Amino acid sequence: MISTFEATPNIALIKYWGKRDSRLMLPQNGSISITLDNSVRTVTSVLFSGRLKADAAWINGKKAEGKELQRLLVPVDLVREKAGIKDRVAIASENNFPTAAGIASSASGFAALACAASDAAGLKLGAAELSVLARMGSGSACRSVLGGFVEWKKGERGDGADSAAEQIAPASHWGLCDLIAVCESREKKVSSRAGMEQTVKTSGLYAKRMADLPARIAKLRQAILIKDSQTVFSIAMEDSMSMHATMLDTKPPIMYLNDVSREAIYAVNELNEGEGRLACGYTFDAGPNAHLLCEEKDIGLVKKHVSRIEGIEKFYDCGIGDGPKKLKEGEGLLTEDGKPS
Ligand code: PMV
Repeated sequence: MISTFEATPNIALIKYWGKRDSRLMLPQNGSISITLDNSVRTVTSVLFSGRLKADAAWINGKKAEGKELQRLLVPVDLVREKAGIKDRVAIASENNFPTAAGIASSASGFAALACAASDAAGLKLGAAELSVLARMGSGSACRSVLGGFVEWKKGERGDGADSAAEQIAPASHWGLCDLIAVCESREKKVSSRAGMEQTVKTSGLYAKRMADLPARIAKLRQAILIKDSQTVFSIAMEDSMSMHATMLDTKPPIMYLNDVSREAIYAVNELNEGEGRLACGYTFDAGPNAHLLCEEKDIGLVKKHVSRIEGIEKFYDCGIGDGPKKLKEGEGLLTEDGKPS
């Protein structure tokens, strides 16, 4: 049976940057994100079949080979083990936004893959188990298996079973917007996997960040629950800059922001100064694209203000989404014989 799921990226307001176990993908710290609606999305179809000769995957129409394929097979192998099946797999996945440029395509991709693969294998998994499967592909993906406001609990267990996402509040709790300003849509030079490993090894600032995080996480969780936009935006900006500071402090330094990203930061500061409140916040992942956060009532104001920034290639106007969704047969990306359709 072919199973097809849609999943969406999430944007972290408190970031994950650093692992304590790279094989099990266990993070150094907890993190908090919002799952985006399907203005940006990945659709993934999975088929397990005894008739397939080899495992195969197509990402945005291109056949995945070598390391790329091996990475996709990590959660798939876990699904095969759980379901007790040995069938080969066919995977087809497509994004409607630029891949690997700071819009967390790996998060939506691995969340969709975890859901589609477990469903195609006939498994009925709960959110925590799906979250762990997605985490094994890409850490931040574990948060995209849930909608709304999501916390990835760092976990304590050695086997990682408790390092999974939990929902703080559903999407309907609060209408926040993430206006994504694409400041450059090229693929990034340093992968987050390699970059975070180097930061943990070489940044002196990293220990300070780790010491600050437990209190920051507790404060953000509470601010979300009471819909305190001023605290949410100020923590998001503070945490993004704290993560990028440890990147800059990495030897050799890692620099994901570019001149257009910096212009976006200045524009937000100017807007907030003029308004006398935080009408907008910003956060940046491992890429130059600005995620501009605001309440629904302020989206017009924010759009008008940032549309003047030169060099922004495109905007994606996202709200908060409900998480992965199973699609109908006709919306799949594979044929019955496991080829891209
Ligand atoms: O996408 P990953 O799991 O390799 O990690 C990326 C982490 C950031 O996007 C930079 C921050 C986060 O928490 O999403």
